[in-house]
Amino acid sequence: MKRVLLMGSGGGLGRECEQALLSSGFSVACAPHEICDISDSADVKSLFEGTAPDIAVNAAAYTDVDGAEDERDKAFAVNAAGAGNIASECAARSIALIHISTDYVFSSPRNAPHNEAEIPHALCAYGESKLEGERQVASSGCRHFIIRTCGLFCRYRPGFPGAILRKLRQGGVVPVVADHRICPTPSRALAQAIAVIARAELSGAEKPDGAYHFAGAPDTTWYDFALEVASRARALGLCDGNVEIRPAAAADFPQKAVRPEDSRLSCSRIQKVFGICQPSWKDYIDETLQGTSLG
Ligand SMILES: NC(=O)c1ccc[n+]([C@@H]2O[C@H](COP(=O)([O-])OP(=O)(O)OC[C@H]3O[C@@H](n4cnc5c(N)ncnc54)[C@H](OP(=O)(O)O)[C@@H]3O)[C@@H](O)[C@H]2O)c1
Repeated sequence: MKRVLLMGSGGGLGRECEQALLSSGFSVACAPHEICDISDSADVKSLFEGTAPDIAVNAAAYTDVDGAEDERDKAFAVNAAGAGNIASECAARSIALIHISTDYVFSSPRNAPHNEAEIPHALCAYGESKLEGERQVASSGCRHFIIRTCGLFCRYRPGFPGAILRKLRQGGVVPVVADHRICPTPSRALAQAIAVIARAELSGAEKPDGAYHFAGAPDTTWYDFALEVASRARALGLCDGNVEIRPAAAADFPQKAVRPEDSRLSCSRIQKVFGICQPSWKDYIDETLQGTSLG
């Protein structure tokens, strides 16, 4: 049985990855933050020595987008140096790394979804730290699959649907950004895609490595995403109907970190190379709203 070393197994995506990889027949060595600090190269080295993996998945990251503006060094230590530490160990052992990155490596506006050939340019410290992580992974010499994704949500980390449900329960008017385009992505579907890539890599399929995009479909705005969440929450009896979701401009919500206006990701490469299709994000809202994290 092939063994996957999973960094960040305590996070939203990490928890979904553990389940998807086990269901795909892998043995999974879980490395939550408490077991391994990826910014500590000695910690990472001893983790690899102790687990002897056949492939590694890095779902660990510093993910506080606004916090990174104040904690730039910490964000870079985890997202850049940490990714580099993992990639170096993979290179030393001649094993592949599946590394998760973000739409925030891109700026905007654009008239089309971002594809893998585009030269990234990040607008905020979090995006810059993730972009530097991608560079360290790519230059490490290991076979690498850098999966950029957008707007993750799942039962374990309800993200935007969870935030909207909390607002719906408070009642009143809920203004939501209507001028930024996104591709909401269910973490469970991404975890299944990661398992497919790991299986292909370990079966010797020799697929081209490098950057790939994976995100949900269809693309939408935060406002339309919120309307869908509200509709499902009402249908599930999780809130009453006494709330108005109102379209608003991003400029009305000043935040420390600048976000891209257009985060749409073109996912044709992953479909062509691995046969992985974009999931319909609407299909995953119910399980997220009913998830354990929302009580
Ligand atoms: N969430 C999104 O909308 C989104 C969008 C695009 C891309 N991504 C990317 O997707 C990946 C997974 O994100 P997620 O939503 O699952 O985030 P998450 O729930 O915040 O999980 C991240 C995990 O990384 C751990 N971690 C933080 N610092 C660490 C360190 N120094 N060493 C080891 N582990 C550390 C965290 O542990 P602690 O909580 O204990 O610190 C947490 O368990 C990340 O690469 C992220 O950049 C996320």
